[in-house]
Amino acid sequence: MREMKSVGVVGAGTMGNGIAHVFARAGFGVVLCDVEQRFLDRGMATIRTNLEREAAKGKLTREQAEAALGRISGSVERDELAGCDFVVEAATERFDLKAAIFRDLDRILAKDVVLASNTSSISITKLAAQTKRPEQVIGMHFFNPVPVMALVEVVRGLATSQEVFETVRSLAERLGKTPVEVNDAAGFVSNRVLMPLLNEAMFAVMEGVATAEAVDQVFKLGMAHPMGPLTLADFIGLDVCLDIMRVLQEGLGDPKYRPCPLLIKMVDAGWLGRKSGRGFYQY
Ligand code: 3HC
Repeated sequence: MREMKSVGVVGAGTMGNGIAHVFARAGFGVVLCDVEQRFLDRGMATIRTNLEREAAKGKLTREQAEAALGRISGSVERDELAGCDFVVEAATERFDLKAAIFRDLDRILAKDVVLASNTSSISITKLAAQTKRPEQVIGMHFFNPVPVMALVEVVRGLATSQEVFETVRSLAERLGKTPVEVNDAAGFVSNRVLMPLLNEAMFAVMEGVATAEAVDQVFKLGMAHPMGPLTLADFIGLDVCLDIMRVLQEGLGDPKYRPCPLLIKMVDAGWLGRKSGRGFYQY
């Protein structure tokens, strides 16, 4: 397997900029790629803020934070990923979009480069089938906020080779994360179990069982969750929650994965949670 020096990250949104942050913090050069300069600017500004926060807390020195930032370059040209030794795709959670990116990456990157997806629920096996290197395609699923959360779900597609799995597992460890091995199935483990919880909390609100505040208090105080399910849904993004519920519904076929109608209505209204200023709470 080639030596990993330069890592490409496709998508500068919440997950993409967090992934670029942790690779740069661990000493890798990073090419952060998005389709518009304003998305890159926003992503870079977030990385700067989060690195400064870590420096202020003494987790890094100011010099280390500056050096990490200096290792990240932005690009709106996907072809500029050509020199990368490893790529993580963290684009919007839509199969067609990710499939097009994987076909592109397969054309652009050297033949021995591993292509990982941060997808939260889409089939790795199906993404791998878009390429001529399915044994080198794998899921590397990070958690928000990426600089803080310890887990990486490492997801094997049907064709993923053992060598590629081991490479990505040790890469996650180099980032200071704990990799957990999971097989390819809709939602993997994390979202298959988490999203129905959030969805059920939404049904409880919709049916008037309790207010959003009360549901959240039950989970914070009764189960020691750091955030209640509706605060967490707002934090993840209600559009992301809905997309994942639809993948679970389609992929697993059980009616228990039906998205809550209130969730659908809120997404239709553009109430996407924290990022849009309004979800179950106002920000
Ligand atoms: N970058 C760097 N550091 C950050 C950060 C960021 N973006 N956000 C928070 N931090 C740090 C803070 O500086 C603080 O550091 P300290 O412990 O040294 O003081 C620490 O994280 C805790 O932050 P705060 O004190 O500001 O706030 P909280 O104690 O309330 O913690 C939280 C915030 C870590 C977000 C916590 O509420 C939490 O763990 N929430 C649950 C998050 C979760 O479940 N994430 C998974 C979502 S699912 C997912 O991502 C999968 C996808 O597929 C949908």
